[in-house]
Amino acid sequence: MNILLLGSGGREHAFAWKMSQSPLCKKLYIAPGNAGTGQFGENVALGVNDFAAIDQFVLTNKVDMVVVGPEDPLVNGIYDYFTASPTLNKIPVIGPSKLGATLEGSKAFAKLFMVKHGIPTAAYQEFSAHNLEAGLDYIDLQTPPIVLKADGLAAGKGVLICESKEEAKAELREMIANAKFGKASAKVVIEQFLKGIEFSVFVLTDGTNYKILPNAKDYKRIGEGDTGLNTGGMGCISPVPFVEEELMKKVEERVIIPTVEGLKKDKIVYKGFIYIGFMQTVQPNGTTEPMVIEYNCRMGDPETEIVFPRIKSDLVKHFVALAKGELQNEVIEIDERAAATVIVASGGYPENYEKGKEITGLDSVKNSIVFHAGTKTENGKVLTNGGRVLAVTSYGKDIQEAVATSNASIEKIGFEGKYYRRDIGWEFK
Ligand code: AMP
Ligand code: GLY
Repeated sequence: MNILLLGSGGREHAFAWKMSQSPLCKKLYIAPGNAGTGQFGENVALGVNDFAAIDQFVLTNKVDMVVVGPEDPLVNGIYDYFTASPTLNKIPVIGPSKLGATLEGSKAFAKLFMVKHGIPTAAYQEFSAHNLEAGLDYIDLQTPPIVLKADGLAAGKGVLICESKEEAKAELREMIANAKFGKASAKVVIEQFLKGIEFSVFVLTDGTNYKILPNAKDYKRIGEGDTGLNTGGMGCISPVPFVEEELMKKVEERVIIPTVEGLKKDKIVYKGFIYIGFMQTVQPNGTTEPMVIEYNCRMGDPETEIVFPRIKSDLVKHFVALAKGELQNEVIEIDERAAATVIVASGGYPENYEKGKEITGLDSVKNSIVFHAGTKTENGKVLTNGGRVLAVTSYGKDIQEAVATSNASIEKIGFEGKYYRRDIGWEFK
């Protein structure tokens, strides 16, 4: 098969690495890709949201399947674009329909879906310009911290955790009346703060059947000890030590099954990944319960960089079955080893940083897989080209061993301003 993969981050390098191992994958194109994806296929200069150009490319190059990495093209309806086109509608798109992607594209839509299908999540209300005053009154009834979420996509920045009612009210006004996050905050979800530990579960579904992939925990803060600004993720681990069988049973029965059944009942076409963010909460009666913080309509980044290395079976074969609605016959084989990925970032990230620094030592890494995130090649040199530059993944008998191996590999890599967290997985020592 000829496959077109959309995206350009560490996640897409991991997709390319994994899919290119499949005997079913004859030719892999990555649009636009990065210096790493180019090792496994041909990078092509297409924008992930330029559906007309993708359409042309797919027909000209006889592409048999399109795999979507990031959320934007899904939220913009690439699945529907393909199904509506007489020349493209036989070509499967791995990813949900536009309505399915709304689970990520609109927090209010996701909350309503969860309430409707009895899926445990924080209590909430939604507000916009017509009931801003009611929103301010609602804040008065809450006990801080108070969580405000821009309804739409806001590049991972749309969630604010306010320590006082005054701060929450000021932020609500900023979001709704002053468009703090542009159109994305025209509507705002205010929800109950959940206390606990976060973890993520990944599901592959054809809309009827589902398969659970390895779980993960990511480390979002820039600084060691989980301090400083939020980032896209500075590293992650799999499996999460506290996510044991009993907890996974609750996750499956209370969340995964009602989610897949809910999609079906609501006639939401969904053939792709569901990434479910959880908080493991302690209830007033002392029981621990998993509650959903968010849905994403795609795989995570950097979670993919450990989840895929822990899948031994053929991902492309799973995608073919998924497209046919026959996922029930697939066996996802999991590597029992632990895996960790540590992000190597440009100094200054997530604020201002410089690009274009030469990266050295990549060839001397022998015990880890180096996935490229923000990189580019120029005159045969690999240069930094983003905030998160590399994701260095290793296996180990446990999390600590995997993290130590990644850290040792990173010591062999150099570029001006190189920064990474040495403490990924710190709470599982
Ligand atoms: P999201 O963009 O929905 O992933 O939210 C970003 C981050 O905000 C999450 O990963 C959590 O750390 C935090 N968060 C979101 N919702 C809540 C909540 N209801 N209670 C506590 N923390 C939350
Ligand atoms: N690592 C978080 C995300 O992909 O959304």
